[in-house]
Amino acid sequence: MTAALLRSALRRSAAASYMSIRAFASPPGQQRKVAVLGAAGGIGQPLSLLMKLNPMVSHLSLYDIAGTPGVAADVSHVNTRSEVKGYAGEDQLGAALEGSDLVIIPAGVPRKPGMTRDDLFEINAGIVKSLCEAIAKYCPNALVNMISNPVNSTVPIAAEVFKSKGVYDERRLFGVTTLDVVRARTFYAGKANVNASDVDVPVIGGHAGITILPLFSQATPSANLSADEITALTKRTQDGGTEVVEAKAGKGSATLSMAYAGALFADACLKGLNGVPNVVECSFVQSTVTELPFFASKVKLGKNGVEEVLGFGPLSDYEKQGLEALKTELKSSIEKGVKWHANSKNPKINSVYEPIKPTFRPLSPHLPIYKPQTSSTVSITNRVSAIILTTVPLSYAFLTLKVGPMCLANESVYQAMYYSSKLGPIALQVTAIATVYHLVHGLHDLYEMFRP
Ligand code: LMR
Repeated sequence: MTAALLRSALRRSAAASYMSIRAFASPPGQQRKVAVLGAAGGIGQPLSLLMKLNPMVSHLSLYDIAGTPGVAADVSHVNTRSEVKGYAGEDQLGAALEGSDLVIIPAGVPRKPGMTRDDLFEINAGIVKSLCEAIAKYCPNALVNMISNPVNSTVPIAAEVFKSKGVYDERRLFGVTTLDVVRARTFYAGKANVNASDVDVPVIGGHAGITILPLFSQATPSANLSADEITALTKRTQDGGTEVVEAKAGKGSATLSMAYAGALFADACLKGLNGVPNVVECSFVQSTVTELPFFASKVKLGKNGVEEVLGFGPLSDYEKQGLEALKTELKSSIEKGVKWHANSKNPKINSVYEPIKPTFRPLSPHLPIYKPQTSSTVSITNRVSAIILTTVPLSYAFLTLKVGPMCLANESVYQAMYYSSKLGPIALQVTAIATVYHLVHGLHDLYEMFRP
């Protein structure tokens, strides 16, 4: 494609208007600081680049536990308005956040094939909580765009954190569901044979499986699609994230399209903050449009964030059924987040160790392996059990040179430790005893191998 064609394609897309060459030349005067938390990760890097292209941004703050100096140096060479700074490690989180107007959170771990977004809950909940505590402290008035999954639970967790710090303003907290809208537009355009950049489709509910409800009956331009086609489009939109997870075959979930969607939504928030009228996007926000406390629907954005949560208009019978069907799951995901936050304040159920995985994408203040929790609440027996769980499988694997135990030692034991310590000290000790039992078997095998 020639440069002229590319330029005109970008101009035609209202969604991508801020990326146009003309926009680079005439940035709006307002100073806007945007912080990306998790900027060195799979979503964070392309998202940082896209935010660097946004002329409304004057200061771009890129935070992660590591890797951000490089990402910031790289992105800073792009000749657009904003000044870019990288911040690495928890010590620099405050400086990264201070003065931010908008904080985007793509931090956390991605899904692997076979996992649901909810399977990420235990790990990402902790990450989101500590990041939101820092937001409450350093930039309590910022708008927060939550990308970390499961969004249906992480948004309620963020709300609870802000409430507990006395800074909650429901107008400023958003779950980013724009990728569902982007997917619905793309898939619909393919079926209706229209230009994807001319399509609009509201998507309501939440951001996981059947809680994602695209309203194709309200799609524009309208097309005469059959009921079967609408069903297939709905299912594909609901499974869009899984489609990418499976195609990436263990290498994570959507990063590029999520970065694009995150940048579109951030652009809408900045426009609202800058007083641009009639900015409307779908988002998962505190809501009264249904009986659920959080719900994704069209939202009008303004100088303080949410100006108005809009209803979803007339639904087809198929969409009405979808709406009823999604409520149970969405309700329980919201409650799970709220309950988790309430329990996280109780030190007794804090685990001995945070879960870790060597393949995590960067970002988590919790990532360092074996990070002790509130040390005063960890009993000696739990400490001894945890040391056994760590060292015994490694020695066993080393002694017997068996691949299975090696893997166990490498990864699963950490997870086993985490989950058994969650269940309580007894479970942790039982796991430790089982591990010792396996070690004895390993030593016996070894003895049999070398017995004269
Ligand atoms: C998506 O919709 O692609 C994201 O929420 C990532 C995921 O795990 O599906």
